[in-house]
Amino acid sequence: MSIIALLPAAGNGSRMGAAIPKQYLPLCGKTVVEHTVAALHAVPEIDLVAVVISADDTRWDELAWHGFERLLVLRCGGDTRAASVCNGLDALRAAGHDAQSWVLVHDAARPCIAPELVSGMISELADDPVGGILAVPVADTLKAADADRRIAATRPRDGLWQAQTPQMFRLQPLHDALVDGMGPDITDEASAIEKTGQSPKLIHGSPWNLKVTYPQDLHLASLILASATIDK
Ligand code: CTP
Ligand code: MG
Repeated sequence: MSIIALLPAAGNGSRMGAAIPKQYLPLCGKTVVEHTVAALHAVPEIDLVAVVISADDTRWDELAWHGFERLLVLRCGGDTRAASVCNGLDALRAAGHDAQSWVLVHDAARPCIAPELVSGMISELADDPVGGILAVPVADTLKAADADRRIAATRPRDGLWQAQTPQMFRLQPLHDALVDGMGPDITDEASAIEKTGQSPKLIHGSPWNLKVTYPQDLHLASLILASATIDK
């Protein structure tokens, strides 16, 4: 059974506030998306890295993609992340990939993911009936705010985790869960699977696996990628 990485890369990066989508911003001599593709392509268990870009994307073809034998670009991005993932899953099915293939959905905007972390996740979930996600336990005290930004309540952090990607599920069940659950409360693949009554497994991720969202994240990502001393 094949294992496929699916990278949604069709967003606008509005919170970044840059002139171009954040996945194409420069980072340590390459673009953000080139780092992400290279990291997933370096995972030996992964048979295919499929990247979902917008139909009107003009930047992908300007990058040098030679040397990536297991890379596929899908020009079927949607209006939301969930729609981009869903369209990508449709394209994979249409290309003949097995309905029970494992799919690891990974944000193109998480360029610091360590291939070893992904390999570990694949081996931990190989026999799992549901699938799972990388996540880290919440470290800070959580405050609920009112409309004036005054603290309304302090929430216990016990048992709370921050979801990361990859999120690993079987192709057709994930597709069906995303289609059935489509709505603003579905912000990741796991939440769609949860809506079907199943409980995805939490796998320890890494604080280095940050999502590049705001300009300062790009600075942090460059420090992480350039560091020879941190164990990613
Ligand atoms: N994404 C996508 N299609 C969309 C929206 C997002 O493929 N319609 C992708 C992004 O390119 C990114 C990942 O989903 O790799 C995570 O989304 P996010 O960090 O929210 O990226 P953007 O939506 O681009 O950023 P923002 O929310 O700040 O506009
Ligand atoms: Mg977004």
